[in-house]
Amino acid sequence: MEAQHFKELVESRRSIYEFAEVQDEVRLNDSLDEAIAAAHWAPCHHRTFPWRFYTIGPTTRNALVPVVKKIIQVKCLAKGMTDDETKEKTEHKLQRFSKTPGLLFVSTRKSPQDPLLEEEDRDATCCAIQNLTLSLWSQGIGSQWSSGPLLNHQETRGLLAVPEDEELIALIKYGVPSRIHKGTRPDVKKFISNLP
Ligand SMILES: Cc1cc2nc3c(=O)[nH]c(=O)nc-3n(C[C@H](O)[C@H](O)[C@H](O)COP(=O)(O)O)c2cc1C
Repeated sequence: MEAQHFKELVESRRSIYEFAEVQDEVRLNDSLDEAIAAAHWAPCHHRTFPWRFYTIGPTTRNALVPVVKKIIQVKCLAKGMTDDETKEKTEHKLQRFSKTPGLLFVSTRKSPQDPLLEEEDRDATCCAIQNLTLSLWSQGIGSQWSSGPLLNHQETRGLLAVPEDEELIALIKYGVPSRIHKGTRPDVKKFISNLP
């Protein structure tokens, strides 16, 4: 691979928040298969392969809506919003959720008896997620890593049948983008300590 291609891929990848209205399901599914395969090539210590992927079909997505709704309402309440504001916000957010072309949850294996292993496994799963998002992007599919209370809500875990020894660490929202925001980074030199 040419170094320039890699640089362009890495620097052009953005978190995508707005997706095209019309999506090609077959293309999305094929791209996701390839991206999950790329994720599986991430490094992991002791060959633990700690990542698990939960692809979300329409039935599961619909079942998640009430969970998402509850979480939005709790957030609105915490912010002191009025009933009308809460209703408007909830409708807006639920519509966005329902319109997101693709949803994928990623979990990592937990090992409470071995904190170092658990840390390394989580680090490896993050590497896998970056492989996944870059692979999607190389195929023209944008994505966004979403964290927050939906991930380890008991109802989410129940709907996905996540085993006790896994922690969901990402909801990846993906699809062909309709808007790609401009990316910037502070000067990398400020992040480097060159030691003698
Ligand atoms: C671990 C992790 C969790 C994130 N969680 C969220 C999230 O919950 N909501 C959100 O809007 N973006 C989330 N993001 C996306 C970041 O906000 C985004 O990567 C950052 O703003 C830089 O933008 P870029 O990805 O376009 O370079 C998350 C990113 C990471 C790595």
